[in-house]
Amino acid sequence: MLNVAIDGPAGAGKSTVAREVAARHGILYLDTGALYRAIGLFALEKGADTRDEAAIEALLPEIEVSLRFEEGEQHVLLCGRDVSDEIRTPDVSMAASDVSAIPAVREFLLALQRDIASENDCVMDGRDIGTVILPDADIKIFLTASAEERARRRVAQLAEKGIEADYSAIVEDIKRRDENDSTREISPLKPAPDAVVVDSTDMTFEQVVSYISGMIGELV
Ligand code: DC
Repeated sequence: MLNVAIDGPAGAGKSTVAREVAARHGILYLDTGALYRAIGLFALEKGADTRDEAAIEALLPEIEVSLRFEEGEQHVLLCGRDVSDEIRTPDVSMAASDVSAIPAVREFLLALQRDIASENDCVMDGRDIGTVILPDADIKIFLTASAEERARRRVAQLAEKGIEADYSAIVEDIKRRDENDSTREISPLKPAPDAVVVDSTDMTFEQVVSYISGMIGELV
């Protein structure tokens, strides 16, 4: 199977890039952040403290997370309920970041991710795909951009949807999540030693997609 890992910080454009690359090559796109988000949502709904390791671990036996792909679009099912839209709020983002620092949560989601990669040609995006989940991925990209540029893109994206956003609040949120994701003890966000680091601060979307697409083209 062809496995492409795209890791990087929040807001670097991983998901839009990964989705487009997957579409161009007719392969599956898997957004692993959605899995952590589903667990974050479950914890919030149960009123649990998302930083309380023991409390979250105790919830895991009640949680069933699975993925369904419809016309190439990924849907996340939490105990059979489609939560694909609900997991996109700022509260769930922070809860996902919190629960993703808990080793039992990462262990809980490991097999699901590996099974999908072993059965499908896919582009998988996340934080630890190249380092932990798929250490033998055919292509590993670490996609990044400055926090300010990532915040500008987020503001522009929201503006397109008619939502007015506060730039400084977004920069702060991004920096807080970077700090949370890269300083945790387990699977911290960092490039795999054999990853190609792509800093997209001064690149267009098309340049990033063409670059990664070109790497796939050399392999297949
Ligand atoms: O990519 P995202 O913003 O949807 O991810 C939500 C959170 O999940 C993010 O703060 C870090 C965590 N995450 C992770 O730890 N490992 C992954 N492979 C994907 C996401």
